[in-house]
Amino acid sequence: MTADKIKKLVAKMTLEEKAAMCSGADFWHTEAVERLGIPASMVSDGPHGLRKQDQEADHLGVNDSIKAVCFPAGCGTAASFNRELITEMGETLGNECQAEGISVVLGPAVNIKRSPLCGRNFEYYSEDPLVASEMACALIKGVQSKNVGTSIKHFLANNQETRRLSSDSRVDERTLHEIYLAAFEGAVKKAKPWTVMCSYNKINGTYAAQNRKYLTETLREQWGFEGYVMSDWGAVNNRVEDLKAGLDLEMPSSLGTNDKLIAGAVLSGELDESVLDEAVEHILNIVFRYEEHRDTKAVFDKEKDHETARRIAEETIVLLKNDGVLPLSDGQKTAFIGQYAEYPRYQGGGSSHINSFKVTSALEAAADMPNVVYARGFDDTKDCTDEKLLAEAVETARSAQAAVIFAGLPERYESEGFDRPNMAMPAYQNELIEKIAAVQPNTVVVLHNGSPVEMPWADKVKGIVEAYLGGQAVGAAVCDILFGRVNPSAKLPETFPIKLEDNPSYLSYLGEGDVVEYREGIFVGYRYYDKKQMDVRFPFGHGLSYTTFEYSDLTVDKEQMKDTDTLRVSVKVTNTGSMTGKEVVQLYVADKESTVIRPVKELRDFAKIELRPGETKTVAFTLDKRAFAYYSVKIHDWHVETGDFDILIGRSSRDIVLTKTVKIESTVKLPVVYTTDTTLGDVRKDPRAWKIVQDALPKYFHKDEKEEKSAAESEAFTEEMNAASMEFTPLRAPVSFGGEVSMADIQAIVDKLNALEE
Ligand code: BGC
Repeated sequence: MTADKIKKLVAKMTLEEKAAMCSGADFWHTEAVERLGIPASMVSDGPHGLRKQDQEADHLGVNDSIKAVCFPAGCGTAASFNRELITEMGETLGNECQAEGISVVLGPAVNIKRSPLCGRNFEYYSEDPLVASEMACALIKGVQSKNVGTSIKHFLANNQETRRLSSDSRVDERTLHEIYLAAFEGAVKKAKPWTVMCSYNKINGTYAAQNRKYLTETLREQWGFEGYVMSDWGAVNNRVEDLKAGLDLEMPSSLGTNDKLIAGAVLSGELDESVLDEAVEHILNIVFRYEEHRDTKAVFDKEKDHETARRIAEETIVLLKNDGVLPLSDGQKTAFIGQYAEYPRYQGGGSSHINSFKVTSALEAAADMPNVVYARGFDDTKDCTDEKLLAEAVETARSAQAAVIFAGLPERYESEGFDRPNMAMPAYQNELIEKIAAVQPNTVVVLHNGSPVEMPWADKVKGIVEAYLGGQAVGAAVCDILFGRVNPSAKLPETFPIKLEDNPSYLSYLGEGDVVEYREGIFVGYRYYDKKQMDVRFPFGHGLSYTTFEYSDLTVDKEQMKDTDTLRVSVKVTNTGSMTGKEVVQLYVADKESTVIRPVKELRDFAKIELRPGETKTVAFTLDKRAFAYYSVKIHDWHVETGDFDILIGRSSRDIVLTKTVKIESTVKLPVVYTTDTTLGDVRKDPRAWKIVQDALPKYFHKDEKEEKSAAESEAFTEEMNAASMEFTPLRAPVSFGGEVSMADIQAIVDKLNALEE
């Protein structure tokens, strides 16, 4: 329906109908207005599968939803670094939605992994905003290509579960733009999600649902968002103010309470009816966009989608360590150890929980491999070592030629609603790994977890495979990797620190009461570990392969450019090993010298390519201003400083293989505001300004160096001024040191300096 028709429709609605449209009809539907032919529209959780609930609705996964297909969770899909693959996952989901009558799938969730402890990390993509936003883009494009909407969430700065309904994320402007907003920005601008879900928390004192700055100014006015903003379930606490701020749809239903408040506010003049009209237009636009593009032929083919889930899972498994033990040979006796070989952990708890129609465990996937033996090793329900299971497992491992331990985090450790208290795996699992490694030299650990864990045993095992939470087909995918039927190609979208205390948010994570200060600022994840030159267990971007890749011929199309130009970069990659494989080529940019505090380098693009043995491909990237910029709080905009930048190509953030330098010239001059406190060093940066000061105060600030030197020796210059080498001396210094100049004189000079900028 055209915007015009929607407007006309809204004009026909009564005040009560419009007010009612601004909250759900129930848990999962928008309101219908039968007399005007406005249908109810169903939304459903996900986004790594459908959680369509019919009856007994709840939003924390307590009650069962329809049988569906569970794809790898966000933690894993991000590790694929494969945009096309995630778009395919989106297309599959979109088709499922069409078949099930779902208009909007509630995801992707792009919140930054600020700490390894966040209970919902398994749903989230990355510690890096580019990865988060690119993966979201890919998923959104796929889903929406089927004429089904997405709801990118949880907007904004929702990085912990503790007190999630009341906590106040205090984040400075630059950090918000460079890290937390950036995760949403790229996806909103490029992939145009039909809806955005605001988070529960406050951002710098104002609830997300009531935050006009972000819901309207940033989202709509700056980023051009055109869909509707919905609340997270129960995130509304002042309906009228929220509506004014830009929150269109409250979910779930307020059972009529807030409808009355909205209508009352219009009648009393507190709320301009046009604000209500606009919100209703936003909602109806999407309702009809879906209704008018229903695919009545769509079929939810679960078996087919299970196979898609398996293919996706194969690209989400990261080979972290391999001392020659992998791939395993199916001719050797291999002991599968650990409960998760039989009952894989493949998804997290809460609102994204999928009711899988089937699950393939590694044991099932290896059912036709006579050389695979199994011992359960531990029992999560006991939460302590089961001596009998442990002893059996040790014996099974000892008598085999290799052991694969399926370990990780128990289900109860990772869920929406709470955070982990520490980064440790259960002690009974660590003990099992240590004991098996002591008797079996060829030990491999396969991890099932949605967020980094400490690995005190890392040096004692020969192989480590991060399977993340790989969805219902994870067992088959893990076996394909273990036995070399598939070449691992995933990379870590986050750093695995050695211990929790190394994490940059460690000192302030979870905050004090409701106040959560993001004190690490922009130094999230590798931005921090790199700057500190800190050892990590596994760096951001790390992931091994069964083949080898060589990089060559890094070229840039110009060595000098303006910040308004684009830079084309290309690099050749060759598969120098003997197995076909995929590689994630990572491009980082480093500002070599800056007047602001910046990370050592930042990921600015990546590409995933497949190469046969001996094959070479050229990968091309195009970088624009944003790749070189930081967010300047002086101009409230992105800014590039004139100077040299390194273009770094890496296999990981800690394995940079090629570098080229380009010189960039800024076309934007940052405003300079002079005060009596401005230092001479800063004044001297502008020769015109320096001349004004010299002319006005010749006795103090002489023109040439010789004079300056002799003046420094004269009594006019005190020793203190001398010691500060002028550089850090404020303009007002002569008032204190000379005695002949007044503050009014200095102010007059300052006024002249400021006039220079006008
Ligand atoms: C979660 C959202 C979810 C919604 C609906 C909320 O508790 O935070 O991610 O989409 O419930 O289930």
